Amino acid sequence: MNIHHVGYLTKDLNKAQDEFLALGFVVEQEKAYDELRKINISFIINGDYRVELIEPVDEASPMYPLLKRYKNTPYHICYEVENLEASIEQLSARGYTVMQAPLEAPCIENHRVAFLINSNLGIIELVEK
Ligand code: NI
Repeated sequence: MNIHHVGYLTKDLNKAQDEFLALGFVVEQEKAYDELRKINISFIINGDYRVELIEPVDEASPMYPLLKRYKNTPYHICYEVENLEASIEQLSARGYTVMQAPLEAPCIENHRVAFLINSNLGIIELVEK
């Protein structure tokens, strides 16, 4: 599966983004607010690498506990798939559990995404393209 992005949790998206830009990244998609997940998101790229910066805006965000535990850190890799349901079925057979069922992601052109977790790997995201 091709990689779409690495998801990176930040305490402060603007400050983290400034640091990444100083390291050679450019902004692909400016900061936007995802109402559903209560997070700010931006996308930055460096060559073939795309990083999604994620800033939980308050304690009501489902990502807030992760931020509290891990601070600033990469926490998922997102893979591109053609059929979300088919991929979820295949991965479930490999021991993955669905954390977040398929849902439209307003910050990824409304493509549907899902999150899965595996005890050997942690969290992965799938995006349907
Ligand atoms: Ni992501």
